[in-house]
Amino acid sequence: MKVTVFGTGYVGLVQGTILAEVGHDVLCIDVDESKVSKLKQGHVPIYEPGLDSLVKENYDAGRLDFSTDAALGVKHGQVQFIAVGTPPDEDGSADLKYVLAVAATIAEHMDDKKVIVDKSTVPVGTADKVYAKISEVLEQRGRSDIPHEVVSNPEFLKEGNAVADCMRPDRIIIGTQSKDAEEVMRELYAPFNRNHDKIIVMDVRSAELTKYAANCMLATKISFMNEIANLAELMGADIEMVRQGIGSDPRIGYQFIYPGVGYGGSCFPKDVQALIRTADSIDFEAKLLKAVEERNNAQKTTLFKKVEQHFNGALKGKTFALWGLSFKPNTDDMREAPSRVLMEALWQAGASVQAYDPEAMEETQRIYGNRNDLTLCGTKESALKGADALIIVTEWQSFRAPDFDLIKAQLRESIIFDGRNMFDPNRMTSKGFVYYSVGRKPAMSL
Ligand code: UDX
Repeated sequence: MKVTVFGTGYVGLVQGTILAEVGHDVLCIDVDESKVSKLKQGHVPIYEPGLDSLVKENYDAGRLDFSTDAALGVKHGQVQFIAVGTPPDEDGSADLKYVLAVAATIAEHMDDKKVIVDKSTVPVGTADKVYAKISEVLEQRGRSDIPHEVVSNPEFLKEGNAVADCMRPDRIIIGTQSKDAEEVMRELYAPFNRNHDKIIVMDVRSAELTKYAANCMLATKISFMNEIANLAELMGADIEMVRQGIGSDPRIGYQFIYPGVGYGGSCFPKDVQALIRTADSIDFEAKLLKAVEERNNAQKTTLFKKVEQHFNGALKGKTFALWGLSFKPNTDDMREAPSRVLMEALWQAGASVQAYDPEAMEETQRIYGNRNDLTLCGTKESALKGADALIIVTEWQSFRAPDFDLIKAQLRESIIFDGRNMFDPNRMTSKGFVYYSVGRKPAMSL
């Protein structure tokens, strides 16, 4: 099938590439000329394991192409994906200007039947707005005769695992009440719908809400666990034991109950906020979601508070080694990353940071530029040199078995603040470290 994807961000680029990989003829459109020309040369602008080779292979095979020419894009695909950003506007609601601009573009150039698919995470009711926008522009053109359908097809991929998530989705949500559009979508996704039926067809609004409900549910699990972890510290319990104890109940499950430094990234913070705002706009107070957000914002400050307490507030002139900058492993994404809240608090208190991340160094440099209180180090070991303590913010695999003797030798004091519970507190104590973790070692915790 011929498919056009508007927007080559995470969602659009991965989706377009995966559709090409199974044999569809895909054209990706983006307004950013330099991005498009880089993609044509095989340069993928994001770090996503496995994506660059797939882009290159499919581009070379002629199944995947990139362009800034929107008119060409509209002509190309029977299916037109809208996968552009929906950034939060000032009050936290999702800003639909890019989505509606693409809808208008499609309507300006279409001259035969199209199925328009909303892939971006958009508030309930957006598909209706997209449909109305397309109808309005077609009417202005005197072409109200051209048939079109708007389908909601939310994406559930995780950064760092996007290719695998897209190739083997848990479910494929198709929001439409049109039998024709459903059939087109079934054919498009047939290569991903083997072994058992993963397609769930529902009305458009339910599909739109499904996406927010999924992300908000996962964010709720994390905030709940962070709350219990904070309690465990105060009560002298060990959250790791509690985690295993409750995860073994299949109704709860082991996934997404890891306590830490709060969730970040491009989805959870934005989507929780957007659903709160949507609820507000229809005079419903989303009390639970507000609490989820509040717990998360507070959680992002817990590591700093532990550092501050340990040093009795005397952080001026201190230097901290920081391992992990991205909001989670296997990505260079720094959006809403807990490391940012921590670094900014340390700087505010007059401390300096020597940071290392396997992928997010360039992004950190881009965000913060050159500052005297930030040194970006080439290795995790060099970040330790002369620092007053080590702080671990992101649980990269390469941090799991460090050379503890070297850490001790390089740090001025043998102190580790671990925001991800990477090590066994007893082992750390026996190695001579003062070890802080999240909800684990009551004697050392706040
Ligand atoms: C998320 C959803 O998982 C995905 O389905 C959706 O399409 C987009 O949003 P992503 O933001 O890429 O994906 O990351 P995810 O792996 O879900 O992690 C989100 C955040 O939660 C990270 O900051 C992570 O560190 C944190 N997290 C996750 C925890 O603190 N504890 C956990 O147990 C799990």
